[in-house]
Amino acid sequence: STPFVIAVDGPAAAGKGTLARRLARELGLPYLDTGLLYRATGRRALDMGADPADPVAAEAAARDLTPADFERPDLRGPAADAAASKVAAIPGVRAALLEFQRGFGARHGAVLDGRDIGTVVFPEARLKLFVTASPEVRAQRRHAELLAKGPAPSLDQVARDMADRDARDANRGVAPLRPAEDAKLLDTSELDAETVFQIALSWAVAAQ
Ligand code: C5P
Repeated sequence: STPFVIAVDGPAAAGKGTLARRLARELGLPYLDTGLLYRATGRRALDMGADPADPVAAEAAARDLTPADFERPDLRGPAADAAASKVAAIPGVRAALLEFQRGFGARHGAVLDGRDIGTVVFPEARLKLFVTASPEVRAQRRHAELLAKGPAPSLDQVARDMADRDARDANRGVAPLRPAEDAKLLDTSELDAETVFQIALSWAVAAQ
């Protein structure tokens, strides 16, 4: 039978990562946070002194990623957020990262979270979730996450940065953020993480 792949897509801070990690652990599947690929590419471009929106620099950064690029402490900060969504709009960057993502899920199945897993990376995934929440709730979650790590921008600033990033992700020409036609929508605005997990797990068990 085909490997069991679960695609978890949605906008920033909707709760995808928490959900995807827990589903993977529960089901004994490998887990891949595909946002990290774009974050590491963006950081690498910045380190080269390049504009992350420059296709030549960004594609070179994506092709030359090494394991050390994923160990950097600053991959989840505001600078990496913005750089990631800029490199992610470049077709050559997406092409360079595609094979790794497909290979990751192809043998033993996997849970992958991102923006285009159900639409581009694994259009044949057996379960596709599109996880959303209101912009206000997502900005609050992201702000709380940043505060837990140290000094953070204001809630207003976080909300503005997130709106910019969502717009870049939704409006780009290649692999824009949108639910696959056969995705199950999960709005987490008013649900706690446990409830979200139980709903998704019941779908996963039915799809297995
Ligand atoms: O999921 P995360 O917020 O870490 O992703 C960072 C950025 O990487 C996103 O804003 C998006 O631009 C890009 N991304 C993407 N496709 C994916 C995962 C992430 O374009 N599958």
